Amino acid sequence: MQQSTQRGLFLTLEGVDGAGKSTHIPFITQFLEQRSIEVVVSREPGGTALGEQLRQLLLHTPMHLKTETLLMFAARNEHIEQVIEPALKAGKWVLCDRFTDASFAYQGGGRQLGAEAIECLEHWTHAQLQPNHTWLFDLDLAIAQQRLRQTREMDRFETEQADFFQRTQHYYQLRVQQQPQRFSVIDSSQSIEAIQQELTQQLTALISTR
Ligand code: TYD
Repeated sequence: MQQSTQRGLFLTLEGVDGAGKSTHIPFITQFLEQRSIEVVVSREPGGTALGEQLRQLLLHTPMHLKTETLLMFAARNEHIEQVIEPALKAGKWVLCDRFTDASFAYQGGGRQLGAEAIECLEHWTHAQLQPNHTWLFDLDLAIAQQRLRQTREMDRFETEQADFFQRTQHYYQLRVQQQPQRFSVIDSSQSIEAIQQELTQQLTALISTR
């Protein structure tokens, strides 16, 4: 008899710009691959050819807030259908740099759309799909801004004012309060080694659930 493939886990990384989440993607990927887990690494907005085109528009073209929110979810829908679901069904793990928590935090909080519209789109786009685990990288906003300025030219989100990021961070914290079992909050002011130790413990726990 043919054995059915065990569904993969869906892992996401979140945090305000400059909080350092992307730094840890190669470490997490390598950790899983060394344990023979196949990992698909992706990002939002983006992750598909169409999604990457939408990302260019989203990061650089001024637009109405509802348009911005709908385009985030349009890119997400394509990403789920083409990449995330097929990979999870094939037993692969998916590691994604941002997902719907970012829409709650940035559009819902930062841009003050509120949670209701995002909940509605979340339900329409992926009622059955939630990340199995999410790392929220948390950093003092002044330090995050300083890190950003040192690295590169900033996009339409990164150039926002301090109060935008305060609201964004607050909405991330609300998500953690609502679903504490899904999140690990990582103090990003720690050394990279200390963060990797925390990640190691959490990844080991996730693997042991398989
Ligand atoms: P980001 O992960 O910061 O990319 P990079 O590290 O390459 O700059 O993502 C791009 C921006 O998109 C980021 O500022 C947050 C924003 N964003 C939203 O506003 N809503 C969303 O739903 C998503 C996924 C991202």
